[in-house]
Amino acid sequence: MRKPSSIVASCIRLVRNVYLDFKYGGFLGGTRKTRYSLLGVEDTASTDYAALPFIFTGNTIKESDVLVDIGCGKGRVINWWLSRGFPNQIVGIELDDTVARRTKWRLRRHRNVEIICGDALAHLPVNGTIFYLYNPFKEPWVAAMKRQLELLFSTKAGISVFYYNCVYVDIFKNDPIWVVEEIVLDQRFHRLAVIRMKIENSDQDPASRPSSGVGASQFRASSPRSKA
Ligand SMILES: C[S@@+](CC[C@H](N)C(=O)[O-])C[C@H]1O[C@@H](n2cnc3c(N)ncnc32)[C@H](O)[C@@H]1O
Repeated sequence: MRKPSSIVASCIRLVRNVYLDFKYGGFLGGTRKTRYSLLGVEDTASTDYAALPFIFTGNTIKESDVLVDIGCGKGRVINWWLSRGFPNQIVGIELDDTVARRTKWRLRRHRNVEIICGDALAHLPVNGTIFYLYNPFKEPWVAAMKRQLELLFSTKAGISVFYYNCVYVDIFKNDPIWVVEEIVLDQRFHRLAVIRMKIENSDQDPASRPSSGVGASQFRASSPRSKA
């Protein structure tokens, strides 16, 4: 049975989520079943706001970064980036056209935000630098995304991929082009992988670059949770 203190903590998180959702135009909780599950696409569910300060800590995001949410769903991560006052270019890409249209409409007044309806792998912005994904799809898609990132970015300055609930992270781990740091943020949250590509024709090893500032990196790998 759950302790009363954990029930209270869950209620506080829920109230905070609802508050920030409504500040940006409407409730984004719950799960929406996808029409594309046979293709290996996951349902639409939003990242908990409480996880995001653990994922993007301190100075992870620089002024020059272009932030991309691969499978942005209802756009809660974009809300959070906006709530932090980031003036950066933000791109959300969502496959489900109903969800994408709603998110685009809701965020239409934010000039730095673009919502693209379509397959993220076909629309990755070439100026993207920080890519976030919350377990949007199954293994073959993750493998295809990795190939696409390699095609687009292998000769550019390093990109960072923040893969939350990183169920298929082994695809990156088994490839020496990539450096993977797996992080358990806190018991309440899913496992995070911060993934960087080694740059071709460069001595710069992403592992030797300044840390992403991921705050809870002392919580090392343990029990992954299963789904989005
Ligand atoms: C678990 S939700 C995450 C939503 C949002 N990123 C968040 O964290 O709040 C994953 C979303 O990815 C979308 N998705 C899955 N495959 C996609 C693809 N190839 N291109 C664009 N979106 C995709 C799904 O439709 C779903 O809305």
